[in-house]
Amino acid sequence: MIGTFDASFILLFACFFILILTLGQSGRLVFVVISAIVIIIIVVASWHFLKRRFKEKTVKAYPQKESFSVSEELILEEQGCRKIPIEEIYAATSNLHVHNFIGQGMSGKVYKGILQNGWHVAIKHMIKDGQSETFLREVASLSHVRHPNLVILRGYCEDQLQCFLVYEMCMNGCLSEWLFGKQKMLSWVQRLKIAVGSARGLLFLHTHEGGCIVHRDIKPTNILLDANFEAKLSDFGLSKLIDLGVSHVSSEVRGTFGYVDPEYRRNHHVNAAGDVYSFGMVLLQILSGKRVISLDVTMPASLDKMAKNLTNEGNIAAFADPKLNGDFSFEAFDLVLKLAISCTAHKWQRPSMEQVVKKLEEALRVSARSSEVFHISIS
Ligand SMILES: Nc1ncnc2c1ncn2[C@@H]1O[C@H](COP(=O)(O)OP(=O)(O)OP(=O)(O)O)[C@@H](O)[C@H]1O
Ligand SMILES: [Mg+2]
Repeated sequence: MIGTFDASFILLFACFFILILTLGQSGRLVFVVISAIVIIIIVVASWHFLKRRFKEKTVKAYPQKESFSVSEELILEEQGCRKIPIEEIYAATSNLHVHNFIGQGMSGKVYKGILQNGWHVAIKHMIKDGQSETFLREVASLSHVRHPNLVILRGYCEDQLQCFLVYEMCMNGCLSEWLFGKQKMLSWVQRLKIAVGSARGLLFLHTHEGGCIVHRDIKPTNILLDANFEAKLSDFGLSKLIDLGVSHVSSEVRGTFGYVDPEYRRNHHVNAAGDVYSFGMVLLQILSGKRVISLDVTMPASLDKMAKNLTNEGNIAAFADPKLNGDFSFEAFDLVLKLAISCTAHKWQRPSMEQVVKKLEEALRVSARSSEVFHISIS
């Protein structure tokens, strides 16, 4: 039996076909070009819409908690994360002036500012509608975990309509700007050090004494770089505390398109292996300087598939970021590429973050050795 939808679809298709037949040669060409443009616009618009929906869902699915109790505030204060008056937030950012704007994410705008005590900070401004749970989770998770490779939450501020998260300022912005910015360039050793730092931060979270903290949104915009290019993981709004080795079933898939573990997408099991997958994608980006999803029709759509294909063909150097200009240790590059591919493999084939840190440290040693050899041979 043909349903109403099927019947109208067949009718539409028949009209379309008759129209093409009645048009002349040039008319047909114009018609096909216009149809192609319309289809591309629809696909791009749907892509953006789905991306937004995907992110929004991650936030809105949580029940709302409106504010902290006095005892919660005291605990946060003891941990060096103080409640900041809204007047100080406005003074620090010159009333959220556009000149102080440094970036925008799904949860709000980020401004640079200077607190009364002289600290340089990055202030994330969030409108409370649907975001307060992300805000509270971020405050609660970040305030008690401290590590050189995790961004420090200096304070927070909330009123009825809006809230602010106040972070230490990472002067060199995020890794994404350095990988994809035309005027910016990271050397091979800088990239490796950033990879080691981020991996150490993630290892710290996964082996946290109070339970494994799964970050769930590892990607280059969440790897910040301080004045010395030391990597600092940020955005713990999506993090989840789970018992070590235990898989937690979540009702919603969280994370960012292109970095989410396909197995987690299917079964909703939150575990540390999901972060390892996302980290593997970031490693592939550090090596190649490419986006996770390619729009180049001559290449496989996803970066991990492209890496696997080139490795199977023995064409590893073709994967290297052209910005590196061939200036890297081939041995270390090969090591990191294989490591990244194993991180994006099936869950049971993925290494732990401890193994990842060790491999990256080894790659750093190999690079240091080969640059010594290079210096000796040219001097
Ligand atoms: N502590 C910080 N120091 C310096 N820059 C920062 C800091 N925090 C955030 N930023 C900048 O602000 C931008 C926006 O950050 P935000 O975390 O809101 O969104 P995002 O991570 O880019 O995206 P999404 O919301 O999809 O996760 C970042 O890309 C980064 O460049
Ligand atoms: Mg972020």
